[in-house]
Amino acid sequence: MTTQTVTKGLEGVIAAESAVCLIDGEAGELSYRGYDIHDLVQGSFEETVFLLWNDRLPAKRELEEFRADLARHRPLDDRLITFMKGLPAEAAPMDVLRTVVSAIPVSKGVSQIETDEASVKEAAMDLTAQFPTIVAAWERIRSGEEPIAPDPELSHAANYLYMMRGERPGPVAERAMDVALILHAEHGFNASTFSARVTSATVTDVYTAVTSAIGTLKGPLHGGANEGVIKNLLEIGDIDKVEEWVRQKLAAKEKIMGFGHRVYRTMDPRAVHLRKLSQELGEEAGTTKWYEMSVKMMEAVKEQKGLNPNVDFFSASTYYTMGIPTDLFTPTFAVSRIAGWSAHIMEQLADNRLIRPRSRYIGHKDLEYVPVEKRQ
Ligand SMILES: CC(C)(COP(=O)(O)OP(=O)(O)OC[C@H]1O[C@@H](n2cnc3c(N)ncnc32)[C@H](O)[C@@H]1OP(=O)(O)O)[C@@H](O)C(=O)NCCC(=O)NCCS
Repeated sequence: MTTQTVTKGLEGVIAAESAVCLIDGEAGELSYRGYDIHDLVQGSFEETVFLLWNDRLPAKRELEEFRADLARHRPLDDRLITFMKGLPAEAAPMDVLRTVVSAIPVSKGVSQIETDEASVKEAAMDLTAQFPTIVAAWERIRSGEEPIAPDPELSHAANYLYMMRGERPGPVAERAMDVALILHAEHGFNASTFSARVTSATVTDVYTAVTSAIGTLKGPLHGGANEGVIKNLLEIGDIDKVEEWVRQKLAAKEKIMGFGHRVYRTMDPRAVHLRKLSQELGEEAGTTKWYEMSVKMMEAVKEQKGLNPNVDFFSASTYYTMGIPTDLFTPTFAVSRIAGWSAHIMEQLADNRLIRPRSRYIGHKDLEYVPVEKRQ
């Protein structure tokens, strides 16, 4: 038998070639399709989506057409809204998002969704445009209100906030959401993207692959961490208690949400921008309490455990200050990451091979089978 090396958690394993994004974990650098995220934050989420799907930045006119196309895809089938109205208000928004996304192809009433290039792009457009509609509609429905129809005149970021909160956001909130969406859009072979690629590699449809990805993003070690961060800040409640709280958690060998990363050994480059947004929004709202508590926690975790914040850390206080309900933090991550999932599904299908690793068997061998009547 050949020697079998097991790499737990596939750490450091290169599972495929990809041209979507480059992460330099040692230098703390991230670029999408060759463009540094520190530059891309000057643009818009729509521009980032175009870039991820087309491997180049759009010309001005192309961007306008792409925005309009995305806006046209925003409305959700009435049957899906009716379906959501039948769900209990207590249902978790990530579960609702996952369920409704898997119901989109069902609502189309077709037996087979094609996986050719044009059909995949059309489905990606549908999903990217409709994620905000689903999340915002659920927020309204569970609060006993009617969903708000999307406004095609608004940007992707502004329209999401408008459908969720019922009023058009001011420029600071719109910009903050736009930047947050750009920063969360893509991140290589993270768990949910890998999950989308594994599912897609069986040549099933895009909706099914994305349903797998949503289920994976939901976990507290992945996209669910931002909700954990705000829970911690609310539980601590006061900046003077942060250091001691961190000490106790680390002494109890508990993980602190929003810290650590499989790839980055420095500060997550996305956290730099989110930290700024958290501060700016706090100043605009007249309270920087959550921002200041976050900075204190960042310093304490660095000093006591040497860990840096990841993307989920400052996105928590940013979203909280924007008035986004805490259980919509992870769905908001999904509203952005659908862009990256789609780019990876396109890349996977363009040069597909079934993803099927093996395990090293460590279970029993050669046991004697005893018929049930004779077992003790
Ligand atoms: C992101 C994460 C899952 C990466 O996991 P990983 O690469 O498997 O790293 P490990 O969990 O093996 O951690 C390595 C060491 O750092 C510690 N560590 C990692 N993240 C930690 C955290 N958030 N809080 C406290 N300790 C942490 C581990 O306990 C371990 O310490 P030890 O060597 O003393 O036992 C992990 O850092 C984590 O769980 N973070 C919290 C959840 C989170 O914020 N997720 C969002 C990621 S973007």
